Amino acid sequence: MDKFVIHGGKRLCGEVNISGAKNAVVAIIPATLLAEDVCRIENIPNISDVSMMIKILHEMGAKIKMINENTLEIDTRTVNSYSVSYDLTKHLRASYYLIGALLGRCNFANVAMPGGCNFGGVRPMDQHLRGFEMLGANVSIDKGVVNASAEKLTGSSIYMDVVSVGATINIMLAAVKARGLTVIENAAKEPHIVDLANFLNSMGADVRGAGTDVIKIRGVPYLHGCDYSIIPDQIEAGTYMVAAAATGGDVVVKNVIPKHLESITAKLVECGVDVIEGDDSVRVVASCRPNRCNLKTMPHPGFPTDMQPQMAVLLAIAKGTSIISESVWENRFKYVDQLTRMGASIQVDGKVAVLEGVEELKGAPIKADDLRAGAAMIIAGLAATGMSEIENVIYIDRGYENIVEKLSAMGADIKRVKIDDEPTRIQTAG
Ligand code: EPZ
Repeated sequence: MDKFVIHGGKRLCGEVNISGAKNAVVAIIPATLLAEDVCRIENIPNISDVSMMIKILHEMGAKIKMINENTLEIDTRTVNSYSVSYDLTKHLRASYYLIGALLGRCNFANVAMPGGCNFGGVRPMDQHLRGFEMLGANVSIDKGVVNASAEKLTGSSIYMDVVSVGATINIMLAAVKARGLTVIENAAKEPHIVDLANFLNSMGADVRGAGTDVIKIRGVPYLHGCDYSIIPDQIEAGTYMVAAAATGGDVVVKNVIPKHLESITAKLVECGVDVIEGDDSVRVVASCRPNRCNLKTMPHPGFPTDMQPQMAVLLAIAKGTSIISESVWENRFKYVDQLTRMGASIQVDGKVAVLEGVEELKGAPIKADDLRAGAAMIIAGLAATGMSEIENVIYIDRGYENIVEKLSAMGADIKRVKIDDEPTRIQTAG
């Protein structure tokens, strides 16, 4: 087990390169199960969620060649197992994409449901399973394992009861080789949905409308291999933008798609932070204490829920009182207890938090409750005066490539310290 030790109060200055998008790559790697040739994928982030997904595919019999730290060649023609056990799925929530991918590949899947999660209460799969059934699959759950099978999946019109990233992705994976037309209405529109659609189309699929409420998929009989590069990570970029703002810094965040960051940029500008957009970069300059603002998380293109904990740190030290409404997850304010230890003044009532801005946070021993809460703890430690120690950094390693190196290069005083081994608890990614 490791911890981060941060001596705060230093402005972040310089530049940071953003890695490939975690939530795109954890969908695109399972999607290679649909290809009947080799897929070469570049700009893959070196994070533990990706390592776990690669491990699962390898256990299923895929041939995976690491060309370099961020480039893989995946050949799934040798995959000979269509069952995935809980031992593998318990570590990674996105393992449920294997159901849609295996259904799309061979009309059969036997995949253990992922474990619980660290936030948001129960994370249901009802929309995923409903989508599979509407494509003609027989779906049952037996001892925590999803069994899904079909003679031949058949396209259908599916109106999502809930805007769900995971369910939209899983239905896309199942539908690309189904017979006929599938229409997904009330679809999620996140950048990683579009990235998956582009990947599938580069394999010869016929997916149109990704990024809008309506995605149309015409089934094709065969998908070939492809060369593909993952889009930059919107949430990693947003995390560094907020870190720059919270430390009064001046940072150029490079290798981004500014359009993906519009809602984050708008909120930072409302807080009095300067954000200068380039073609593939944004420069964040914070010259004074941030102003207060109100924030409501929404599905894309609204403000992303995965940036909510990070923004809460900025608003915790803003001039005035701010309100955050979390509309996507039931209970995503667990991290507030940690900020309170640092002197923050935040009241939480269900899905709403009221943040009374304080002059400064004070360093303290804190812990990461989940991936994005952990990122928020790092921002809090960087902005605080004094030393902070952050435990459970295993969560942060799931979604942030080389975060210590990237922050140190911008002047942060952050170290990764080994602590004596504690029993490794089963954690499931967000
Ligand atoms: C994805 O989770 C992301 N994870 C999450 O990011 C992110 O918070 C979430 O989308 C929202 O953007 C990955 O992409 C791996 P949802 P997902 O299905 O797909 C309800 C991170 O930090 N719902 O869009 O699980 C659900 O309860 C992680 O990278 C149903 O009711 O989220 C929630 O209230 C954390 N039934 C809402 O929909 C279902 O069948 C949105 O969930 C599915 C979801």
